[in-house]
Amino acid sequence: MSFKVQPASPSRPNRCQLFGPGSRPAIFEKMAASAADVINLDLEDSVSPADKPEARANIIRAINEIDWGNKTLSVRINGLDTEFWYRDVVELLEQAGERLDQIMIPKVGNAGDIYAVDALVSAVEMAKGRSKKIDFEVIIETAAGLAHVEEIAAASPRMVAMSLGAADYAASMGMQTTGIGGTQENYYMLTPDGAKHWGDPWHAPIVAIVAACRTHGLLPVDGPFGDFSDDEGFTAQARRSATLGMVGKWAIHPKQVALANEVFTPSEAQITEAREILAAMKQAEAEGQGAAVYKGRLVDLASIRQAEVIVKQAELITG
Ligand code: COA
Ligand code: MG
Repeated sequence: MSFKVQPASPSRPNRCQLFGPGSRPAIFEKMAASAADVINLDLEDSVSPADKPEARANIIRAINEIDWGNKTLSVRINGLDTEFWYRDVVELLEQAGERLDQIMIPKVGNAGDIYAVDALVSAVEMAKGRSKKIDFEVIIETAAGLAHVEEIAAASPRMVAMSLGAADYAASMGMQTTGIGGTQENYYMLTPDGAKHWGDPWHAPIVAIVAACRTHGLLPVDGPFGDFSDDEGFTAQARRSATLGMVGKWAIHPKQVALANEVFTPSEAQITEAREILAAMKQAEAEGQGAAVYKGRLVDLASIRQAEVIVKQAELITG
C-alpha cells in the first residue's frame, strides 16, 4: 500500500449538474430554482457559433443578477481547439462577479491544456484583483483525455471535478454507437443458452475517471444521458456509475434532476445498514475482534470504510 493518504474530495453535494444553453436566458431562473446541486451555464456545444458573444453577455448578466442560492455555479467554456475559449475566459473573469465558482473545460487532452487555461485565468484574476480563485472542472471526452486522465487530474490545484462526456468520447474513440450514453444495441454477450446479455460500454472510462479523481481528491461525475424521455435508462446508467464510485450525473433536461438526486442520495435503508455495520464493528473492536458477522455476512475493517462512504455522503447532503 502507498504510504500516501488518499486526499479527500471537495465536501459539497454534486449529485446533479443541470445544463442550459447560454443562448437561452429564459430558462436561467428555472435552473436557479431547480433541485440541482450544480448549475452549468453553457457556452460550448449547445450554443451556435453566431450566438457565442450574446451567450457570454447573457451568462455574465445572469451570474451577477440571479440569486443562485447555495448552488455551485459553473460555466462551460469552449474547447482549446476553437477561436472562442480565450474570450470566454477573459470576458467571464473580467465582467462576472465573485459568485462564479468554477469553469468547465471541455475536451481536455492533457495537463498542458489545464496549464494554458490556468495561466490565462491567473492573469485575469490578478489584473482584476479577484479574491476568490476560480476552480476547474473538466470533461474527459476524447481518446487523449482518457489516455492522460491522471496527469489531467493532477494538473492544477484548481481542479475539483471530472465528468465523462459519452457522445464526444464515443466519436473520438471511433466507437460504433448512437445516442448519448446508456445501453448500446450491439454491446452484448451471448449467455450459454443464446440469450443476449447487455454490458456497459462506458465501464472502462468511468473506472479510469474514478481512479484518477480518487487519487487526486476530485469529484468523479457521470455526464449526459441524451434520451430524456427514457427515465429508466437514465436511472440504470446512473446506478451503474454510482456503483462504480461516481458522485453524480448531469441533467440535460429538468426532469432528470430528481432522477439523479434519487440515485446519488443514499437511501434511508442504505444509511441504516451502514450505521448498523459501524455499530457491529465497534462492538467487535470492544471485544478485541477485527471482524464480525452482520446479517450472516462477514464485515471487517474494509466494511467500516465502505459504510463511512455512505454515512459521509448522507451527512453532506443533509448539511
Ligand atoms: N433547465 C431548466 N429548465 C428547463 C431546461 C433546462 N435545461 N430546459 C427546459 N426547461 C424548462 C422549459 O422552459 C419548460 O418550462 P415551462 O414548463 O415553464 O414552460 C420546461 O422546462 C419543459 O421543457 P420542455 O418543453 O420539455 O423542453 P424544451 O423543448 O423547452 O427544451 C432541451 C429541451 C433539451 C432543448 C433543453 O432542455 C435544453 O436546452 N437542455 C440543455 C442542453 C444543454 O445544455 N446541452 C449541453 C450539455 S450536453
Ligand atoms: Mg462534449
